[in-house]
Amino acid sequence: MKIIVCESAHEVALKAYEVFKNQITVKPQSILGLATGSSPILLYKELIQGYIRKEISFKDVITFNLDEYVGMDISHPQSYAYFMKHYLFNHVDINVDNTHIPNGLAENLDLECAQYHQALSERGVDLQLLGIGSNGHIGFNEPHTTFESSVHVVKLKDSTRNDNAIFFQSIEEVPTHALSMGIQDILKSKKIVLLACGKKKAEAIKAMILGPIDESCPGSILQTHNDVTLILDEEAASLLKQK
Ligand code: GLP
Repeated sequence: MKIIVCESAHEVALKAYEVFKNQITVKPQSILGLATGSSPILLYKELIQGYIRKEISFKDVITFNLDEYVGMDISHPQSYAYFMKHYLFNHVDINVDNTHIPNGLAENLDLECAQYHQALSERGVDLQLLGIGSNGHIGFNEPHTTFESSVHVVKLKDSTRNDNAIFFQSIEEVPTHALSMGIQDILKSKKIVLLACGKKKAEAIKAMILGPIDESCPGSILQTHNDVTLILDEEAASLLKQK
């Protein structure tokens, strides 16, 4: 794993921007795996600015998002479909037909998972963006999800629902289930970039990098991938320095 420690969240976004700019420049038809949550928001702002400066174009880019809540209308501001439009897609020249997000409203969720997995497998992700949950989850692959998983329905842990409650009026409003790419889908990406900022992520980052490769910390599986870059702020990296 390559680890870059930055002085601020803004610097994290700038470093990540360089990786994405390079990817899209070298391969304009890149297939990007995208993430939601607070971690990628500053990167998405940089990508929009890069598009405005004409440094990059999303005209031929194809995207697959990691996850989506189950049962949430896509017009709900906390749905990941809404998030992606709000923070990125509405502001760049991407073709919406080239954007993919699991459909958490599908009548048959297992079929939706199978079809999303099939679409992902046919294309193959060039560059996958990840955040990490404070319990070490990647996508919505909660601790003890099998490392053999592909796209699946997830029952969210209370810790994850609590973390995400800041985006809702109350904890009761946070969905109980989600659809997520599985660990195997994530590992198939050619390159992975994981962003983490803040003290709340320090334990998960430590477990992911220094701990055993174990399903109790889903992020630890990234130790087995040959092209992972972690871009962290000093707080998220703070427990890596301890003896
Ligand atoms: C969320 C998302 C993940 C995200 C993680 C961290 O629940 N499903 O894709 O990476 O948890 O979120 P944040 O960046 O807000 O800390």
